[in-house]
Amino acid sequence: MMQTSLFSAEIYEVTDISNKIKSIRSPLFYVGDKYKLMPQLKKLFPENINTYYDVFCGGGSASINVKANKFIMNDMDDKIMGLHKHLQKSSENIHGFIQKMYRLIEDYDLSLSEKGTNAKIEELKKIYGKTYFSKYNKKSYLKLRNDYNKNQSNIDLLYLLLIYGFNHMIRFNSQGKFNLPVGNVDWNKNVTKALENYSFWYNNNDIILSSGLDFETFVESQNIKPGDFLYFDPPYLIAFSDYNKFWKDEEEHRLYTLLDRLSDNGIYWGLSNMISHKGKTNNILLNWSQKYNKYRIESNYISRFDNTIKRSSKEIYVTNYLNGGLV
Ligand SMILES: C[S@@+](CC[C@H](N)C(=O)[O-])C[C@H]1O[C@@H](n2cnc3c(N)ncnc32)[C@H](O)[C@@H]1O
Repeated sequence: MMQTSLFSAEIYEVTDISNKIKSIRSPLFYVGDKYKLMPQLKKLFPENINTYYDVFCGGGSASINVKANKFIMNDMDDKIMGLHKHLQKSSENIHGFIQKMYRLIEDYDLSLSEKGTNAKIEELKKIYGKTYFSKYNKKSYLKLRNDYNKNQSNIDLLYLLLIYGFNHMIRFNSQGKFNLPVGNVDWNKNVTKALENYSFWYNNNDIILSSGLDFETFVESQNIKPGDFLYFDPPYLIAFSDYNKFWKDEEEHRLYTLLDRLSDNGIYWGLSNMISHKGKTNNILLNWSQKYNKYRIESNYISRFDNTIKRSSKEIYVTNYLNGGLV
């Protein structure tokens, strides 16, 4: 690791990024997940974590890829927490769950590329190129969406919507109805593998789900001790995403006040965030983070063959610990 002037005078750049180290993918395939960045982040996490708090857990990628004695996961989105709860319960017999999903896929007549293709799919491929899955699944997906919106207690249907929906996202309208269109994605071998990995992780670790609280209420409600570690991956103030829409300057300030308070109490934390994006700068973060350690995280890998590509975003990781000691 070396100090570099690439970004600011005090930022540390992780120089030994290895793209070869593979991360485990969460079966929620969450937008903005830390799946690809985990090999870099993990190296910067403290060793020997007692309780690991994933305060903005989203799809849970940052938990699945870490070693700790205990995990506590929180996210304010109750649909996300509901999906984790469902997958964790299903982890008792993940192959039973996968078989149940195959039956639903068959009942709804959705494509299942894990099991191969069929003449109709091959025909659509020739006509529509990359959008053939959406053409094949559209009618079935709309029926699935309608059925789920009639009875939202059926989380199996929500999980299928996530797998077949646009970019594997979940989105609800102001009336609480799931409203994403069909995607160009389907159930392939990566979905099955991700479910198997998630259940293995769940069955071999001590994992608790919070009741889905705002980050500050959640942290204040926990009995955090030295030796524990809190990872914060909040919505990014300067980038757009569906879950960013309620994240404003006030939330950003509230988060940094909380992090300062934790530092005063000798609690280790790490924060992922974005300092600049498409010409915008997060000045609140820039100013506040001066007193902590900052690491540049590589998010857009520049092609070896074309070093003229400019990165449009600067991701950082901020910590209040360095070489095992608070600074
Ligand atoms: C960048 S995503 C986290 C991604 C996650 N680390 C992963 O790897 O999948 C940010 C998350 O913060 C959640 N969130 C937004 N506002 C929140 C708040 N006030 N308190 C707790 N969670 C919140 C969103 O629902 C979203 O899942």
